Amino acid sequence: MPRFRTLDDLQVKGKRVLVRADLNVPMKNGKVTDTSRIDRQAPTIRELSEKGARVIVLSHFERPKGKVVPSMSLKPIAPALSKAVGKPAAFADDCVGDKAKAAVKQLKNGDILLLENTRFHAGEEANDPDFAKQLASLGDIYVNDAFSAAHRAHASTEGLAHLLPSAAGRSMQAELEHLIRALGDPVHPVMAVVGGAKVSTKIELLTNLLTKVDVLVIGGAMANTFLAAEGRNVGKSLYEEGELDTARNILTAATDAGTVLILPSDVVVARELKEKARHRTTDVFGVKDDEMILDVGPATVEEFSRRLLTTATLVWNGPLGAFETPPFDQGTAAAAKAAAARTVEGGLISIVGGGDTVAALNRAGVADEFTYVSTAGGAFLEWLEGKTLPGVAALEQGN
Ligand code: 3PG
Ligand code: MG
Repeated sequence: MPRFRTLDDLQVKGKRVLVRADLNVPMKNGKVTDTSRIDRQAPTIRELSEKGARVIVLSHFERPKGKVVPSMSLKPIAPALSKAVGKPAAFADDCVGDKAKAAVKQLKNGDILLLENTRFHAGEEANDPDFAKQLASLGDIYVNDAFSAAHRAHASTEGLAHLLPSAAGRSMQAELEHLIRALGDPVHPVMAVVGGAKVSTKIELLTNLLTKVDVLVIGGAMANTFLAAEGRNVGKSLYEEGELDTARNILTAATDAGTVLILPSDVVVARELKEKARHRTTDVFGVKDDEMILDVGPATVEEFSRRLLTTATLVWNGPLGAFETPPFDQGTAAAAKAAAARTVEGGLISIVGGGDTVAALNRAGVADEFTYVSTAGGAFLEWLEGKTLPGVAALEQGN
């Protein structure tokens, strides 16, 4: 367990507490379309406010690259934040300088203030010491609640932890506790499911997981590269010709590590990727030249479900098929339902992360039944790769 302080260790009454949140939420026409991240971070802000802190919220939003980009303002997020916290949140047009200072000065105990996008300043991503100092001057204590931005060594995610007494917020704490439960010190047998399109973006992840888990299930278009590496005809399927050797090396490494690696035994194929496209199910030996693999088949899901009965901990990242285009969402949905049911029965600890994966589980209507759903994308992947996340490391060092 990493060692860092939590809100339990802080005396915050009357103090100015800088909370790094991740309010980088999806928006359409000025409205937040998915409030998951805001909802997860609201408890930290509410708790600090209830304890009498003057809460100053910092966040990035999208990638303005060090310039003021009006469409990337955090201003429209303030009402959504207020709603989630259940208290008004003021907004300041800048995160440093006179505007920020004046807004902070007006705060009374329990008040909440959201500052403008930290990435409007180049010093944020550069982790510039002067910029970090300007941010630090606004607060007495630093609380990092943005696990999903912890893979970035930026001024507000990393630099600040070296300048102010620091602690993890409740959402950061929950993310770390669950990820440690999944891979740090898990109850075995552990099964990992890795899907998605490309082997090339997940080599480190697969290599790291092989040494940590007992069973590794590979799905999604990435499985096609493995099937091709094993000499199967994958027809017109999306696959990476340049990664066949990588796939072979991973298969060998699995054997060496004594990890069971499961590839699809049957697949759903079609001639085009389109909603309701004509499709059929075949075993992996029966794919024709003009067909592409778009999902795992029922026998593969069946094997996964059977293995769940002897699995204690499940870690899942990446859909098993082209889940955005029904009916090729069926494999992912069926596997998700099986894992959810097993979790609800009490037989499984299930931990899921990554944007696409969470979207797929939401579509299947079972996200709430998993033990823990991470709100992180890139940070979750880097954690699965076994990397040290700078935002987390800085919190530990701050103690
Ligand atoms: C995310 O959306 O994954 C986080 O907010 C990090 O955003 P970034 O990839 O722009 O750093
Ligand atoms: Mg993003």
